[in-house]
Amino acid sequence: MAIPFVLFNSRNHGRSIIITDTYPTMNTRTPFLTHTLPTPLVLASGIWGTTVSLLVRAARSGCGAVTAKSCGPAPRAGHVNPSCLDWGGGLINAIGLANPGAEAEVELLAQAKAELEPLGAPLIASIFAGPPDEFATVAATVARARPDFVEVNISCPNVHSDFGEPYAASPDAAAEVTGHVVDALAERNIPVIVKLAPNVPSIGRIAQAVTAAGADALCVINTMPGMLIDAESGQPILANRSGGLSGPALKPIALKCVYDVRKACPETPIIGTGGVTTGVDALEMLMAGASAVGVGSAIHFRGPDAPRLILDEMTAWLAARGMDDLNAVRNRAHHEPLYAAVPTGAPVPSAH
Ligand SMILES: Cc1cc2nc3c(=O)[nH]c(=O)nc-3n(C[C@H](O)[C@H](O)[C@H](O)COP(=O)(O)O)c2cc1C
Repeated sequence: MAIPFVLFNSRNHGRSIIITDTYPTMNTRTPFLTHTLPTPLVLASGIWGTTVSLLVRAARSGCGAVTAKSCGPAPRAGHVNPSCLDWGGGLINAIGLANPGAEAEVELLAQAKAELEPLGAPLIASIFAGPPDEFATVAATVARARPDFVEVNISCPNVHSDFGEPYAASPDAAAEVTGHVVDALAERNIPVIVKLAPNVPSIGRIAQAVTAAGADALCVINTMPGMLIDAESGQPILANRSGGLSGPALKPIALKCVYDVRKACPETPIIGTGGVTTGVDALEMLMAGASAVGVGSAIHFRGPDAPRLILDEMTAWLAARGMDDLNAVRNRAHHEPLYAAVPTGAPVPSAH
């Protein structure tokens, strides 16, 4: 497909016009720790990660790695309905970490790993726990399934703190949990990804604390706390009263968090997650400093083929600007403006 486009940069003031005669294929291969992911997209935890067939479906739909639903030390029923709503700007959920418990999760993970291996998509197990040392027990349990990575969900409350503050809110608590998981997995050589929360004063400080404690990579971010109220009854709508925001409303928050974490930890791989719904969203996440891009609520908004649609849009956007390599956009927000950014007729960004 021929795509005419104008190359704008500070040197040519947009005078060059380059006509492509083929639609270039984007090189989607993405180095991530011990693996090269076939695509930069990673299925986020809690979205589809509850069965083997859905994890495999996500990989077949364009995810280069897939994350299972978080599991804890024991089975949990989670919160009663309503527990997840589409409110117009995204989703709000209070699923309450419903899961079958780590022992039962081992079987699911082992089967998923076997089916994902031929597709080249690594499997990320996700864990949570109560007291810090219990994270080690859960990590050792899921490690029996030999997942490629273990992600640590530290957004759950610290059962030892007076107000049940999440581990993710304190550099010391987050580092303590990370240390337990790193020690538990060291012998098995399974890299540890720590998933950070957005509602903290300095996410860069938390990122530095967990990487100093041995985290190999970071997932940035989990949902943002929020609440919906039904005006007629004056009552919160979710049965749990409050929940976590995801989807489009989360994107600017996630971009800022990824940007801050990239600055604080220049060498650490980051899965940038939050509000990625389109290919341009995914590219923006890479520009903020993400190494790979999480896809969660987009599957609700765009359907099961969302990852494939996002990849196609990434390819088309890059192609229209004469690029076929993600390295052209990676970390761009930390450097000079992208040289080939404005196709003919594109709206001029406002100053807000
Ligand atoms: C219904 C639902 C369930 C989720 N469950 C988990 C979970 O079990 N563990 C976790 O770490 N994150 C969980 N998340 C958070 C997502 O993994 C992701 O961080 C968040 O939704 C932001 O990404 P998104 O805007 O692309 O959805 C859940 C999100 C949703 C919407």
